Amino acid sequence: MDLNTTERNEIGIAADSLAAAPAAKKVFVKTYGCQMNVYDSQRMTDALAADGYVATDMVDDADLVLLNTCHIREKAAEKVYSELGRIRDMKAERAGTGRELLIGVAGCVAQAEGAEIIRRAPAVDLVIGPQTYHRLPDVLARVRGGEKIVETDYAVEDKFEHLPQPKRAEVARRGVTAFLTVQEGCDKFCTFCVVPYTRGSEVSRPVAQIVAEAERLAEAGVREVTLLGQNVNAWHGEGEKGEEWGLGRLLFRLAEIPGLARLRYTTSHPRDMDDELIAAHRDLPALMPYLHLPVQSGPDRILKAMNRRHTARDYLALIDRIRAARGDIAMSGDFIVGFPGETEADFEATMQLVREVDYASAFSFKYSPRPGTPGAEMPDHVPEAVKDDRLQRLQALLLKQQQDFGASLVGRTIGTLIEKPGRQAGQKVGRSPWLQPVIVDEKAGEIGDIIEVRITRTGYNSLFAELA
Ligand code: SAH
Ligand code: SF4
Ligand code: F3S
Repeated sequence: MDLNTTERNEIGIAADSLAAAPAAKKVFVKTYGCQMNVYDSQRMTDALAADGYVATDMVDDADLVLLNTCHIREKAAEKVYSELGRIRDMKAERAGTGRELLIGVAGCVAQAEGAEIIRRAPAVDLVIGPQTYHRLPDVLARVRGGEKIVETDYAVEDKFEHLPQPKRAEVARRGVTAFLTVQEGCDKFCTFCVVPYTRGSEVSRPVAQIVAEAERLAEAGVREVTLLGQNVNAWHGEGEKGEEWGLGRLLFRLAEIPGLARLRYTTSHPRDMDDELIAAHRDLPALMPYLHLPVQSGPDRILKAMNRRHTARDYLALIDRIRAARGDIAMSGDFIVGFPGETEADFEATMQLVREVDYASAFSFKYSPRPGTPGAEMPDHVPEAVKDDRLQRLQALLLKQQQDFGASLVGRTIGTLIEKPGRQAGQKVGRSPWLQPVIVDEKAGEIGDIIEVRITRTGYNSLFAELA
């Protein structure tokens, strides 16, 4: 997921093939936040490639710097302003050299703060929200004409219809795993969360568009696709004969595409796990036995205040059904500690839920009050030191569970998708069904192969294996 690393290769290719051509304009894209932003950065890079830009991983070399931002927690949003400070200084140094530097802010901070960004950081030339990325070349043309542009309306047209697809070589360069957004936006309005305001209401992409994009990925050598959505399991569409499809049915369709060996989806809401999707975990070998199903908190009082619309018991019962369908499924989740009003007893209920579920991996955060969300207005905010303490205790428990899960795999034979050369000479890195990096001898297989390996030992966050 390190966008900057992958873009390094592109320069090599571009430099060779463009030896005699005039120097192309260069764009440096920096991505913050979730996987959807990673996907969006690729699609923006594709749109800019059609407009004559090549990507660079060296900010000093760029004619356009694009920050694809995240608004989920205060820290995430503030990082953007410190980065803008540095880029503003670069822009000032450029003045008088004849080479201009344009600065753009995209993503969820762009959508949430709009023109405020240019007021706070006047060096910024354009602000563009996630629903208007297809207009990026147009917006840039106007910026070059001397305007400052804030483009944060929700577009009436479907951006995916207008965003260019990457070239085959570009898909291949990005690797054998890929993201594919199938659903965007959220109607759930959890009281802590900005996403419904930054990504808008839930929209599902049509079946034909998704299938066509997945086929292109597979043709270029992609073996594993992760379907993305803020509420990916709320995806719904009309099937090829006009019938109503849910995510489960879509997964079955995508599994028919030659070459696509592995499917995943993220992130799901417990309320939208329907029977068909659970059945897909039972019946579809290509669907990997790993599920990110955030619960956020354990006590029902806090779940209610968060407007999660499920109880802890609902969540545990759901996991029982999923595990009955697929015994080796590994659970993952997200947690927030220190939501307003959370007591020590509430926190203990969260720890108890974690013990009951036994997660293979999880992400946990201190509650961060976000402007405009109901949570920020609630009484009884929890002191920072208490949040710190609870986060530490929760993370210690989650880390223990993650390491125990890794250790439980030692001696077992598992399928591994070889993804890239290892950091050390003589090694390659693959990916387990449960998303762990698997280190193997470089002769074990070629990139893109799915091989059977025996796990010999665990690292901090990875597995070591030999050909079975
Ligand atoms: N659509 C996803 C969540 C996306 S945000 C879902 O429904 O699960 C990713 C995670 O960030 C959330 O699951 C939550 O744990 C965390 N998060 C969201 N808002 C937060 C806030 N205000 N403070 C701290 N963590 C937050
Ligand atoms: Fe945010 Fe809740 Fe929607 Fe997830 S379901 S994106 S946490 S509002
Ligand atoms: Fe952040 Fe927006 Fe994703 S707020 S987590 S980049 S949807």
